[in-house]
Amino acid sequence: MKLGIAADHGGFDQKQQILRFLKDSGLEVIDFGAHEFDETDDYPDVVKPLALAIAKGEVKKGIAICGSGVGVSVAANKVPGVRAALITEPYSAHQGVEHDNMNLMCLGGRVIGPALIKELVAVFIQSEYVEKERFQRRLNKVDELEKAFGQLTKKEEPKK
Ligand code: RB5
Repeated sequence: MKLGIAADHGGFDQKQQILRFLKDSGLEVIDFGAHEFDETDDYPDVVKPLALAIAKGEVKKGIAICGSGVGVSVAANKVPGVRAALITEPYSAHQGVEHDNMNLMCLGGRVIGPALIKELVAVFIQSEYVEKERFQRRLNKVDELEKAFGQLTKKEEPKK
């Protein structure tokens, strides 16, 4: 399973730690940046390449970190096909995948510590979506919302 990761300055150190942890565990992970610490970088810019890669199926799951985890989740959820959520405890790290097919876990680098981050990452990557009628019915309704209302704000992907 290919994973992706991204962080702004509020989660840069935590991204480096998670990258090491994932690589040490033998997992394939793409680092979408930031590639160096820049205290002026903006979370929509750093999460965008990861969110697009998830939407295109280039990576199956992603982890995004900013100071609170809120900014990256808000920004990433604007990309159709991304199901991002801010996660602070293990129950939601697995239930979010099992029930809601969460494909981007967002973390607050200024909020939670390294041991919890490691646990959340481990739980998230091990979890699988459970194909039950009620979960799929709800996800279909989420897709319908995206189709119906995404059009109001959806823009062409800007040229680089
Ligand atoms: C950056 O200072 C901070 O605002 C950002 O990382 C994030 O926490 C936003 O949600």
